[in-house]
Amino acid sequence: MVSQYPDVEKKLHDEIDSVLGANDDTNGHDDSKKIPTVDDIPKLQYTEKVLRESMRLYPPVWTMGRYVENDYYVGEYTIPAGSSILMSQYVMHHDPRYYEEPEHFNPDRWTTKFKTDLPRFSYFPFGGGIRGCVGEPFAWMEGILIIATIAQKWTMHLVPGQRIKLDPAITLRPKYGMKMKLIRRKS
Ligand code: HEM
Repeated sequence: MVSQYPDVEKKLHDEIDSVLGANDDTNGHDDSKKIPTVDDIPKLQYTEKVLRESMRLYPPVWTMGRYVENDYYVGEYTIPAGSSILMSQYVMHHDPRYYEEPEHFNPDRWTTKFKTDLPRFSYFPFGGGIRGCVGEPFAWMEGILIIATIAQKWTMHLVPGQRIKLDPAITLRPKYGMKMKLIRRKS
């Protein structure tokens, strides 16, 4: 997504350069740059928004199921015991009732106010409730650090002719992979 939106790519690179120091790869060994660490995470706010928006459009867990043990009532609906129900992150995350221009990749939509106003479970890449993902804090940490580590040094361009199609298996995957050309960033 970053490679498709040059304005996002620029903001991401600008934040990473200002937090971690600009690319100063004069000797070809990258030893002058600071490797991102946990302490940098609170400062990498745009990077976090990029990850958040990516998981909105392409939630790795795109649907979850539950077996209904007892009759259950939701508004006017009765879900009889013995049913299986599916709750889809993909469907909710693309719903225009919650996300203006839902197909648009817009990390800036994730202001504090937007997050506070968003109804519960209109964004749930990590599930929720008693079976919510125990790895969620770790996943945010590693996701932000991986994006920062890569984007600090590289610009990524989609290889020409790369076919993009979703493969909704247990997790959501790119059916034909996602080959990218990495170009070393200059300071
Ligand atoms: C982007 C990364 C991740 C995503 C999108 C994700 C998503 C999810 C979701 C949606 C569930 C709930 C499934 C359900 O209720 O049916 C879940 C559960 C779980 N996740 Fe993650 N997860 C991620 C990373 C991780 C990591 C890094 C760990 C461990 C270090 C982890 C460990 C678990 C465990 C153990 C459960 C089961 C919790 C339970 O049933 O009590 N996940 N995850």
